[in-house]
Amino acid sequence: MIKRSPAKLAVFCSGYGSNFQAILDAIRRGKLRAEAALMVCDNPGAYALKRAHRHGVPVVLLNPRLFPSREDYERVIIRILKNEGVDLVVLAGFMRILTPLIIRAFPKRILNIHPALLPAFKGAHAIRDAFEAGVKETGVTVHYVIPAVDSGPAVLQEKIRVSKRDTLKTLEARIHRVEHRLYPAAIKKILKQRRKNG
Ligand code: GRF
Repeated sequence: MIKRSPAKLAVFCSGYGSNFQAILDAIRRGKLRAEAALMVCDNPGAYALKRAHRHGVPVVLLNPRLFPSREDYERVIIRILKNEGVDLVVLAGFMRILTPLIIRAFPKRILNIHPALLPAFKGAHAIRDAFEAGVKETGVTVHYVIPAVDSGPAVLQEKIRVSKRDTLKTLEARIHRVEHRLYPAAIKKILKQRRKNG
């Protein structure tokens, strides 16, 4: 029997990288059979870089301002990902909107995590927006990336009840805890489907 090598992930981060960490931990604990082959970053101040160094994950740190266009920036990234044989792109707090160029280069192979129950509360302040709207329920969505922002088909979604005692801070913490469990689970689900479909 041919044993397949673990799927290669490229995780894209711009900031703290707690979801990146959750994915690394799931791999380390043997809960997710994958390899964090690369971490792509657009921000030299991102704490996620420290996590990558600590875990020996190669980093691609590229300043978008040094490129004439978003497509030029992505062209370089696409080339690196293809050279590395990356199977799945995992956006984990990457604060740039991808263009159709990279989405077409990795069809149905780019995931994002969003801290709300999409299609509700799209955008960069989803937790705060949901909290301020006074919803009784919010949650987390892992979805495929398509050119329309925060709109691709969901892979996994989990609801969270907002309690009367929640503050924005407690709600954020509860959402992040769910994210850290849901993202590795969603990646695992996709890789399993892939293996089944050959
Ligand atoms: C997460 O809340 C994620 O849902 C959103 O950006 C945040 C990133 O957090 N897309 P971290 O950098 O993974 O800690």
